[in-house]
Amino acid sequence: MTKPCRIALLGVGTVGGGVADLLARNGEDIESRTGIRFEIACALARNRERAAKRLGGNIAVESDWRRIFSEHEFDIAVELIGGETDACESMLAAFARNKPVVTANKALLATRGGEILASAAKGAAGIYFEAAVAGCIPAIRLLKGALAGDRIRHIRGIINGTCNYMLTRMRTDGMSSSDALAEAQQLGYAEADPTLDVDGLDAAHKAVIMAWLAFGTPLTMNNIAVTGVRTIAAKEIEYAAEFGFCLKLLANVELIEEAVSIWVSPALVADNHTLAQVEGSMNAVQAKADAAGELSLIGAGAGAGPTASAVVSDLVECATDLACNRVPVMPPENSRKVLAAEMFNCQSYLRVPAMDKPGVMARATGVLADLDISIEAVRQPESDSGAKTDVVFLLHETSWQNLHKACKMLAGLDDVTDWPVLLPIAVPHTEKK
Ligand code: HSE
Repeated sequence: MTKPCRIALLGVGTVGGGVADLLARNGEDIESRTGIRFEIACALARNRERAAKRLGGNIAVESDWRRIFSEHEFDIAVELIGGETDACESMLAAFARNKPVVTANKALLATRGGEILASAAKGAAGIYFEAAVAGCIPAIRLLKGALAGDRIRHIRGIINGTCNYMLTRMRTDGMSSSDALAEAQQLGYAEADPTLDVDGLDAAHKAVIMAWLAFGTPLTMNNIAVTGVRTIAAKEIEYAAEFGFCLKLLANVELIEEAVSIWVSPALVADNHTLAQVEGSMNAVQAKADAAGELSLIGAGAGAGPTASAVVSDLVECATDLACNRVPVMPPENSRKVLAAEMFNCQSYLRVPAMDKPGVMARATGVLADLDISIEAVRQPESDSGAKTDVVFLLHETSWQNLHKACKMLAGLDDVTDWPVLLPIAVPHTEKK
């Protein structure tokens, strides 16, 4: 009988439970396909009884990660605790004992990745993190492996399932954003702290990891421009639709000369484009490289099953590496600059809430003209004279910084009632599908 590969399962929540289920269901198939028999040797959970029941069998469950290391023997640590302190300390403890780690912890990699990679290298232990980005989509293997011989120029994607689910339900069912979020939480898509999803930080963490793999930029959140979906109102979705766009929370990572621009924002996508068809909790990752050209991967980006599938694929890779004493090489962080937030150029959508009074449109377009911002299209819904209305512009390309200046000036105009809403147009109608 094959010697088992013993796993310490740190975390038996949505994803940890999904990993246990997948191994129980597919263990025999995995063994016959790969020659590897996985066995959960021990687990970590706050509620030991509940976890023991969930895992079944005689798996020892601890509530302190230190006991995992002091009391149990295992080959691979699977870090699915989430959060920062315990997750990081347990990973460092594993590396110090020369044990490889499989993790889905994008927040930790994006903020303390340098320290974690150094510790893995010192312990000559591997780190595997396919599940950290875009659920079951093999985004890490794409950037690290499939495009290893190419020069990547641009990566963009829908990489937060919760926000995509919320925007989809708001558009197709007229649901409020809070109800849509509650549903996404129930379905197991959201982070333990859902503000990470809603405020765009979860997508930004994933974007930072992809930028590091593609361009070697440092694993830090410095200079990343992040806006989430919190301020997206139903009317933004409606106006965007009237112009032939849908709204998606997009992450954009782009090589601009020798620097890299990284931003996350709700953005307009031409509604006949592939990205516009990615609905619900589905994710998409698109990469553009010199030799390969453009390619797109689409798949479930959140939830127990898809994320567990990515974790188990990492387990197979990790166990295969262990069997031949191989430690995967990690791309070094280099000194390539991340452009200061807001230094990117784009076409944009601008909604100016204003009173329907003589001269409002002229004053608003005057501000844009003064800043050399050119208008592509404009729309004002019918309203009663003197009532509140919106003036909605589509603007030709200019710098995001210039657009922020425009918002500030517009907000100060007579009869402009609120701060304008500014969104990038990530996929214009002129871009091919
Ligand atoms: N909360 C994340 C999402 C889970 O909604 O995409 C997957 O990383």
